[in-house]
This record gives sequence, structure tokens and C-alpha cells, in this order.
Amino acid sequence: MKLSTPQKLFTMSVLGAAALAFSGAASAAVNADAAQALAKKSDCLKCHAIDKDKKASSYKKIAAKWHGKADAEAKLTDALTKAPKVKMADGTEEEHKVIATKDAAEIKNLIGWILAQ
Ligand code: HEC
Repeated sequence: MKLSTPQKLFTMSVLGAAALAFSGAASAAVNADAAQALAKKSDCLKCHAIDKDKKASSYKKIAAKWHGKADAEAKLTDALTKAPKVKMADGTEEEHKVIATKDAAEIKNLIGWILAQ
């Protein structure tokens, strides 16, 4: 199908508005205070810091690794709820810490916060 110029402009503006609405919703949805409180309560900060590596990668590095990947939220939900084996900075393997909540919205908020670092 060949689009006329007005049709093209219309399509472009609809896509542009959708992209804006999406990015706005994604950042507005994160509650940083709640995310950090949950990270503290779950002992996450024993191994992870926001911007330096400890026993595990910084949240900045993790965010960079997952940046732009459509399945980031699903994969990180698994990482935080299914205790996969992970390698510590010293080379030993352990089951990953399971997050101290079963509330899907709280988990999603913490993942959103990590991905925003
Ligand atoms: C005992 C140390 C330890 C604790 C406590 C810990 N983690 Fe991890 N975490 C690791 C290691 C090790 C890895 C994998 C290697 C790396 O990324 O450095 C990892 C990986 C991750 C990843 C990336 C997974 C991936 O597939 O890229 C996320 C996100 C994460 N942790 C979040 C958390 C959160 C949230 C908590 C608190 C519930 C937490 N971690 C507690 C050690 C820990």
C-alpha cells in the first residue's frame, strides 16, 4: 500500500505520541524510595551497590546489560524469584538471593528502579 503524504504524517505522529506516552509511563511508574527500601530489606545491598561492583555487579552495569531488551523485566523477575545459580566476584557459585516479597507490583517496581540506574 502506498501512503499519501497526509497519511504518512498522521502515522508518524501517532507513533511518536505512543513512544512519548510509553517512556513517560515507564519512568513515572518507578517509586525509588519504595525500591530502595525493598532492596535494603532483602539484603540486596550486601552484594550490589548502585555504581560500584561489590560481590556482584553494580546496578548501573546490570541496567546497561539489559538496556533496550524487551525481555529484561521477565528475565530479572526470574533472577529474583527463582534462586538461579550465580557467580560471585570471587568465582564461587551460590543460589541467588530471593527477594523478600511475593508482591508482583513491588518486584516490578524494584526491577524498574534497577533498570533506570
Ligand atoms: C550474596 C550476594 C548477593 C545478594 C545478597 C544479591 N545478589 Fe543479585 N546477584 C549476585 C550475583 C553474584 C549476581 C550475578 C553476577 C553479577 O551480575 O555480578 C547477581 C545478579 C543480579 C541481577 C542480574 C541478573 C541478570 O541476569 O543479569 C540482578 C537484577 C540482581 N542480582 C538483583 C538483586 C536484588 C534485587 C537483590 C536483593 C533481593 C540481590 N540481587 C541480592 C549476588 C547477590
